[in-house]
Amino acid sequence: MSCPFNRNGNNHDDNAIPLGSDVGMIYGEYLMLEKVLSAQRMLSTQDNRTVHDEHLFIVTHQAYELWFKQIIYELDSIREMLNEEKIEESKTLEILKRLNRIVLILKLLNDQVPILETMTPLDFMEFRNYLAPASGFQSLQFRLIENKLGVKSENRVKYNQRYSEAFGGDKLATDAISGSENDPSLLDLIDRWLGRTPGLEVDGFNFWHKFQESVAKFLDQEEKNALLEKTENARNYRLMDIEKRREVYRSIFDPNVHNAMVSRGDRRFSHRAMQGAIMINFYRDEPRFSQPHQMLTLLMDIDSLITKWRYNHVMMVQRMIGSQQLGTGGSSGYQYLRSTLSDRYKVFLDLFNLSTFLIPREVIPPLNEHMRQKLK
Ligand code: HEM
Repeated sequence: MSCPFNRNGNNHDDNAIPLGSDVGMIYGEYLMLEKVLSAQRMLSTQDNRTVHDEHLFIVTHQAYELWFKQIIYELDSIREMLNEEKIEESKTLEILKRLNRIVLILKLLNDQVPILETMTPLDFMEFRNYLAPASGFQSLQFRLIENKLGVKSENRVKYNQRYSEAFGGDKLATDAISGSENDPSLLDLIDRWLGRTPGLEVDGFNFWHKFQESVAKFLDQEEKNALLEKTENARNYRLMDIEKRREVYRSIFDPNVHNAMVSRGDRRFSHRAMQGAIMINFYRDEPRFSQPHQMLTLLMDIDSLITKWRYNHVMMVQRMIGSQQLGTGGSSGYQYLRSTLSDRYKVFLDLFNLSTFLIPREVIPPLNEHMRQKLK
C-alpha cells in the first residue's frame, strides 16, 4: 500500500521520496496540524495555575465542532441531491450512504460524552470562571444542523427562539443562520419527495381512498366483534377504544384536522407527504420501496440520536453544575436544556407516529397488477 501523503504514491522503500522533501507533501502539512494542534490554548495555564482537565474540555469541544462540520457537509450534499424533481437510483444509494454516515457520527458524538464525564464537578469548577460568557449555546454549527434538518423557530422553546442574538455582530454567522432558516431544509425536501410517492395519484392506484375504505371496514368489523362481548363492561370498554381509534384516523383522513395539528406544531409533514410515508411503510417489501423505507428509518435514527445527545448533555450538565445554577450563556442551565428534550425538537416526528395508523397486514389494500409492476 502506498502512503496517501506521498505525492508519487511510492511504497516506503529506498526509492521513495523522503517525507518533508520539496516534492512530497508531509502528513502534518496536508492536515494543517500546526494550526489544529496549536489551538488548545488553556486559560488556566495563561493564569499560571494550570488546571489539568481544561485540556480535555477544550479538545472535546473541538472534536465535536469538527464532526459538526462533517455533518453539515454531508447534509448540504444530501439536500442538493434531494432538490430535484426526479432522483436517480444511484443518487438514492448515495443519499442512503451519507445519511448512514451522519447516523454513525451522531453515535460517536453520544459516545464522547462519558469521556468528558471523567472530569469531576470540582475539577470543572477550577476553570469554569475562565469560560464565561462562552457557552455551547453559541455553537453556530449546532444551530445550522438544527435548521438544516428542519427545526422551526416557532417550535423552539421561548428562550431558544432568540438563539440568533448570540451571534449579534458577526455578519458571517448571521448570514449563515438566515440562509439555513430560509433554504429548503431536509424536512422540506423529504416532504416534497414523499408527496411524489407512486400510487398516490387519485386517477391511478389512489392509495389514500383504498386505505380509508380498509380502515372503515376494519373498524366496523371490530365493532361487530365488540358487541359479542359477554359482559357490558368489556363491551363498553372495547367500543370506547374503537371510537378513540376512529378519532385518531379522522386526524389523518380529514385534511383540516391534520393541518390544524401542523399549525399547533404537533405534526410536521404536509397531508400528501403523510400519505406517501404511510404507503411506503405498508409496501416496504416491494423492491421499489425498499430504499425509501431505509431512508425513512435513517431519518428517525438521526432524530433519535440527537434527542439522545440532548439527554446525555443535560445529564452531564446536571452532574457538573447541578440544576440551580445559571449557564455561562445566561440561560437557566439545566431547566432550559431539559425543556429542549420535548417532541417539539423532533424534526421527523410524524415518522415516529406512523405506527399509530398501522392496520393488520391482511387489511392493507392489495396492490393491483399495474401497481405491482410499477414497484418492481
Ligand atoms: C462540562 C460540560 C458542559 C457543561 C457544564 C455544559 C453546560 C451547558 C449549559 C448550561 C448550556 C445552556 C446554555 C447556557 O450556557 O446558558 C449548554 C448549552 C449547550 N452546550 Fe453545553 N455544556 C457542557 C459540554 C458541552 C459539550 C462537550 C458540547 C459539545 C459541543 C456542548 C454543546 C452545547 C450546545 C450545542 C448547547 C446549546 C443547546 C441548546 O440550546 O439546545 N456542551 N451547555
